[in-house]
Amino acid sequence: MEAFACDALPGRVVFGAGAARTALADEVARLGVSRLLLIAAGGGETVARDLAAPLADRIAGTFTGVRPHVPVEVADAARKQAAAIGADAVLSVGGGSATGTAKAVALTTGLPVIAVPTTYAGSEVTPVWGLSDGERKTTGVDMRVLPRLVIYDPELTVSLPGPLSAASGLNAVAHCVDGFWAPGRNPVSALAAAEAIRVLAAALPAVARDGTDLGARSDLLYGAYLAGSAFAVTGSGLHHKICHVLGGRYGLPHAQTHAIMLPYVLAFNAPGAPDAASRIGQALGSEHPAAALQALAAQLGLPRGLREIGLAEDQLAEAARLIEPVVPADNPVPAGAAALQVLLRHAWAGDPVGTELAGTELAGTELAGTELAGAGRAVEEQGAREEAVTDEALASFAGADAARYREIMQSLVRHLHAFAREVRLTESEWEQGIDFLTRAGHITDDRRQEFILLSDVLGLSMLTVAINAPASAGATESTVVGPFFVADAPEVPLGGDIAGEAKGRPCYVSGTVQGTGGEPLPGARIEVWESDEDGFYDVQYPDGRIGGRGWLRSAPDGGYRFWSVRPAPYPIPDDGPVGALLTAAGRGPMRPAHLHFKVEAPGYRTLITHIFVAGDPYLDRDAVFGVKESLITDFAEHPPGPGPDGRPLDEPWTSVRFDIVLARLASGPGSPGI
Ligand code: BEZ
Ligand code: FE
Repeated sequence: MEAFACDALPGRVVFGAGAARTALADEVARLGVSRLLLIAAGGGETVARDLAAPLADRIAGTFTGVRPHVPVEVADAARKQAAAIGADAVLSVGGGSATGTAKAVALTTGLPVIAVPTTYAGSEVTPVWGLSDGERKTTGVDMRVLPRLVIYDPELTVSLPGPLSAASGLNAVAHCVDGFWAPGRNPVSALAAAEAIRVLAAALPAVARDGTDLGARSDLLYGAYLAGSAFAVTGSGLHHKICHVLGGRYGLPHAQTHAIMLPYVLAFNAPGAPDAASRIGQALGSEHPAAALQALAAQLGLPRGLREIGLAEDQLAEAARLIEPVVPADNPVPAGAAALQVLLRHAWAGDPVGTELAGTELAGTELAGTELAGAGRAVEEQGAREEAVTDEALASFAGADAARYREIMQSLVRHLHAFAREVRLTESEWEQGIDFLTRAGHITDDRRQEFILLSDVLGLSMLTVAINAPASAGATESTVVGPFFVADAPEVPLGGDIAGEAKGRPCYVSGTVQGTGGEPLPGARIEVWESDEDGFYDVQYPDGRIGGRGWLRSAPDGGYRFWSVRPAPYPIPDDGPVGALLTAAGRGPMRPAHLHFKVEAPGYRTLITHIFVAGDPYLDRDAVFGVKESLITDFAEHPPGPGPDGRPLDEPWTSVRFDIVLARLASGPGSPGI
């Protein structure tokens, strides 16, 4: 055992589910304080009041003006209140900001702090304080701010939202990992940090799966406590120095920056700190701890590359220069600006810190000192090889005669290659993609078009509609055509019935067809198709019956009317690969109830659209993104009795009015057709 020195921190910790309810009053009495200033943060105020109720006689005042980063004016207000009520202790209930405000009071008054944390911040076990004054932040270390008593009650963390829990839990992991090479590291802090990493890495995915899992919440809080205690004595290492610059200078979000950087910093430092790397690996149950950390962050839905959170490529060199002077003197591998730039570039691109990088290309020995140039070259060579493939594929289309074909194919190649690079497509993922397309091909025939369905659920169909039916002031909006249009629908007279063999509640549809100038459009061809009350189109009937479709012409005044059936919501065909894709995304196959229209008039842009039934439960989750606010229409319900045209109805019926406005074509016909 090597010699070491360690400032062990005092303080009592009471941990347990329900501890805040059952133990707080006795613990406060034990401290011998009787005039508490309760500091309660925003959302936690009610919780705080409930918890404080059993010690109501000891609460002399409540401060609720907590704000993030403890602005100096907030600290002043809390201090004034503490003085005004003659407080002899401060009780904070809430996250890091509530604890921070209590610490600010303790800093100038010396009052003891009792902390009941409701998040995984960890600051309740550190003597570090922080205040903000506008943009400026001041921090310091003072033993007076270290809470005398901390009550950890996992029940109070159950309502902390999943993403916030993941972010602050990973932040705690970062405290531990960085603590292995931070200035105050010692065998005891390493012990706590390793145990914290083990507990946190197991609890984080469990909490992400089920935020109400009290066992996992307990572990997460316990891990956060250990992490906070370890960090309190180790202080910041390379990782925190890097994140501080990235957050302060470029405004990158705190939690995401930590999650992205940590695996790279570990891979960078590991060769100079093999014992630390091996202990972190043991705690994570992996021989490749950096890769394991990256996988954990991905599992928690955190981004992978700094570029995803807004860092520009041309900022990397400057960032490296700014970090260099703050690198701790005894970082296990030398971290000059050039080495840092290579490190940042990997983190920026989101390169995998997998077996292919960990311990080899990205490892500190290679990035540091003599071999640094080699690492930089390796990165460049990799990039050059990838670009060469893209260039070759692009060039292969350069000779195409048709300019439009050339433009489309070269753009497709550029975007496909960029996509593969961005996600670092693995060979097995490529195979899965090919397999998906193969299955889509096999299931497609004259009646089933899986590729259009794929385009629909990816939003490509609606994007193409948006590109090709440019917004025209006052014109009715377009939406997807869908696969159920057929070319030879029956003609019905004005006021006729298109229901045919389709069953459902009778529905009277009427309106006008006009141009955007308000001119009526007589003789416009209006074609309609829809599902029956069970959500089936006639082309889905096994026996060839026809129903729920037809076409008619508008009257001389542009008016139109016909009978149909009230449409029903239905699932798009989901028994093929597209259905599997939706399931994997946690999406449903449903489309809200709608009536398809195709309206044509000479000199006007052909309109392909639907009207949707207002109040349909699927309006906000249409599987094909076809809903537009302007197309949601009220379908009125009527009791049995004569319809608007005198038709006798012995059952309830529905009516809807839909006025259609067509955009004039710029010149000539050329309207798109189906
Ligand atoms: C339709 O509304 O008919 C539809 C549109 C896209 C995919 C499947 C069905
Ligand atoms: Fe449809």
